[in-house]
Amino acid sequence: MEVKKIFLPESELPRQWYNIMADMPTPMEPPLHPGTGQPVGPDDLAPIFPMNLIEQEVSTQRWIDIPQEVLEKYVIWRPTPLYRAYNLEKHLGTPAKIYFKNEGVSPAGSHKPNTAIAQAYYNKVAGTKRITTETGAGQWGSALAMCCSFFGLECKVFMVRISFNHKPYRKLMMQTWGANCVASPSTETESGRKILAQDPDSPGSLGIAISEAVEAAVGDKDSKYSLGSVLNHVMLHQTINGLETQKQMAIAGDYPDVVIGCAGGGSNFAGNCLPFVCDKIHGKDIDIIGVEPSSCPTMTQGPFAYDFGDTVQMTPLLPMHTLGHNFIPAPIHAGGLRYHGMAPIISQLIVDNLIRPVAIHQLETFEAGVTFARTEGFISAPECNHAVAMTIREALKAKEEGKEKVILFNWSGHGLVDMAAYQAYFEGQLKDYPLPAEDIKRALADIAPLPKPRQYRPGKL
Ligand SMILES: Cc1ncc(COP(=O)(O)O)c(C=O)c1O
Repeated sequence: MEVKKIFLPESELPRQWYNIMADMPTPMEPPLHPGTGQPVGPDDLAPIFPMNLIEQEVSTQRWIDIPQEVLEKYVIWRPTPLYRAYNLEKHLGTPAKIYFKNEGVSPAGSHKPNTAIAQAYYNKVAGTKRITTETGAGQWGSALAMCCSFFGLECKVFMVRISFNHKPYRKLMMQTWGANCVASPSTETESGRKILAQDPDSPGSLGIAISEAVEAAVGDKDSKYSLGSVLNHVMLHQTINGLETQKQMAIAGDYPDVVIGCAGGGSNFAGNCLPFVCDKIHGKDIDIIGVEPSSCPTMTQGPFAYDFGDTVQMTPLLPMHTLGHNFIPAPIHAGGLRYHGMAPIISQLIVDNLIRPVAIHQLETFEAGVTFARTEGFISAPECNHAVAMTIREALKAKEEGKEKVILFNWSGHGLVDMAAYQAYFEGQLKDYPLPAEDIKRALADIAPLPKPRQYRPGKL
């Protein structure tokens, strides 16, 4: 029988994270202070994050040691298995070999605890008592809730209202791990009240929830804020995934021609692909594809510009692909992909042509997710279905071209708490949303006066 799963022993768990900042062909442009337009220094970030994470945020050191306390928690679910998707290959009749890295085996169900563990640990060491955060689909909120409980920290989660209503079990998971979760926009913060005054029925967005969580942290001396994606230190922690994958691909005796991941803020994609981006920088020929929803086409349509990470303009300005901080994406079920921006690291790598972005409509992603479930068994999170859909496209292309390509994709999480989305799909209630061109243009007009990065690229609209 052919080998289906490639496991690594715990002794092979990577002991360091990989920092792509050491190898990027174009150095990253710094975050800017929204008031002065000057680069923000560590002290500007200190009310929001603990200094040990700020140091990681700006570090250009290639390898960063993973603390023993974090390794001891990682082994609860890491190393995660790499699978060969023989059944999907056979179903598609493709000569391509398809591999997927299963990040859904973490207790919270996704890749998110890879950074939640690290962030909870560094906050604990720095003396933080309570962490505040946002969550879209609830994967991040539940991951952080679990990790805060491991380190004895309080956890407050602002969950985007549309997802709060779609996914009641996520809230209960957070409660089980001891966190307090409220729907955002909420009446608990100035930011939430401001949005509700404009639109009492606001479905919320990640941008709004971030504003609420940052405000809740800044107003309390014992609290810090934690972001589940986008920032450099989050991408760093996630690289444990790609580093394991490289070892597993070597055991399988293959090397990917194509690496695929879905991208909301960019963290699961980065985690899996950055070690391969390093190989690409050093000469390997790999197509590295980030997949986003067509209704929130940050990478494929948005400019590379400076913008706020949140709606109420509390964060520093980040150089990134963005649809404008006032853009509220359509209520698709992939809540974790409803974000106006993209990680500066991923954005810069797109500008440098090392990463290729693609946008896919919701219905194709669910169709792909169902095909994957009926062949490989696993039911994917709606976000993850974007990666599955792109993998199927690439596998069919390989079939057409008669090429035996090696395709690797990151299976970022399971969808067992997202079955309402599948129900809506089976009942024919899901739809594709047309490109929200007018909304994007309006939101981009709001960022026109902001400073521009040196490598500013206009959007497509
Ligand atoms: C399973 C899963 N995949 C992907 C994402 C997208 O986030 P990111 O781009 O940071 O990986 C999320 C976010 O909630 C998620 O829950």
